[in-house]
Amino acid sequence: MSKPLNVGMIGYGFMGRAHSNAFLQVNHFFQREHTPVLKACCGRNKEKLSAFAAAWSYETMESDWRKLIARKDIDLIDVCVPNNLHRDIVVAAAKKGKMIICEKPLAMNAAEGEEMLKAVEAAGVANMVSFNYRRVPAISLAKQLVDEGRIGRPFHYRAVYNQDYTISPNVPQGGAALWRLDVDVAGSGVTGDLLAHSIDTAEWLNGPIKKVVASTETFIKQRMHAETGKVQPVGIDDTCMFLAIFANGSRGTFESTRYARGRKNYNTFELNGADGSVFFDLEDPHILQYFRYTDPKTGSKVEDHLTGWQRIHVTNFEHPYMNKWWVPGCTIGYEHTFTNGLADFLASIEGGPAFQPDIRCALHTQRVCDAVLKSAANGKWVEVPA
Ligand SMILES: NC(=O)c1ccc[n+]([C@@H]2O[C@H](COP(=O)([O-])OP(=O)(O)OC[C@H]3O[C@@H](n4cnc5c(N)ncnc54)[C@H](O)[C@@H]3O)[C@@H](O)[C@H]2O)c1
Repeated sequence: MSKPLNVGMIGYGFMGRAHSNAFLQVNHFFQREHTPVLKACCGRNKEKLSAFAAAWSYETMESDWRKLIARKDIDLIDVCVPNNLHRDIVVAAAKKGKMIICEKPLAMNAAEGEEMLKAVEAAGVANMVSFNYRRVPAISLAKQLVDEGRIGRPFHYRAVYNQDYTISPNVPQGGAALWRLDVDVAGSGVTGDLLAHSIDTAEWLNGPIKKVVASTETFIKQRMHAETGKVQPVGIDDTCMFLAIFANGSRGTFESTRYARGRKNYNTFELNGADGSVFFDLEDPHILQYFRYTDPKTGSKVEDHLTGWQRIHVTNFEHPYMNKWWVPGCTIGYEHTFTNGLADFLASIEGGPAFQPDIRCALHTQRVCDAVLKSAANGKWVEVPA
């Protein structure tokens, strides 16, 4: 019999919508014991919150997240608010014994992340961090190919995550839509916002990053603050590039900017090993490119006239998650990554495999981000704490 899972959603923006959709869809496609119930949503603007509650059929509303967390009828708190609120909400929710879904980046910095980890582990509450790109079927397939030994000894990992929406100096910082440009709310610029995703994917596919050296730049030094109207210094990194040494000895390059004219959400990676390579581009999300050098069945080199990059259309029933959706050849999209992740989370609380990434795992990503920013400031290689 289905068990209700009462959700308390904090935030009604981009991620509030993406997660609400996943809660509503998950049991239409994945059969789980729990049925998410959209019990309450929380936000400060009554009019916008009411519209959100109506659009997604939330039963009740709260204007203060502390009141939401104190409610006995809420099982799970979903943190879909800007980064500077993650720590306080997660720590308070854990103390009340709530399960937690937290958006990325985990926190403003690793020190906050450590407090969050302590709180959830002391409370023993199930938790997940929403690095949703792991649940793009093509990226999950890349992980499968790595785990099957098809890449062999890894040599290089290359990640790029570029956008272009902050090129104009007239874009303000701060406020509802542009809190990502305000360092006091976001914690960092592209490092925490975009490269955190790239780092999570990289460490999942290629193991931990041990050491980094980085360069960042803030191209526009001052912007008007949307809330105060004052022109203030910009504290975020507009671009970040770093070199990484992985524990397995391979070398990585990571690049991110919000000044790549024409790029909207250009998130790519390539992993090159002795036996093969994989390449992924989020602008072509259902394709995984795979180069097979060694035939994994025979262990021998693929005949020269047959080598070449394969474009795998990741929509077969045999591909990750795809037997839950449509028929082969029919693609899924961005929102499905959240549903796939939620399905895995529910499975984990129902006795299935432990969910990853959890807060412990996301803390390592945060430590890499901190090391990157430290290196950009001091110009030296920085070790990432284990
Ligand atoms: N996984 C992803 O790919 C992905 C994509 C976008 C954003 N994010 C992350 O999700 C989080 C939210 O980002 P977003 O794009 O949804 O932002 P958004 O600006 O669209 O929405 C933020 C919401 O938080 C609310 N909010 C702000 N302060 C609040 C408070 N004190 N109490 C209650 N509500 C408050 C705002 O009113 C708004 O509804 C961020 O941490 C961001 O990094 C992740």
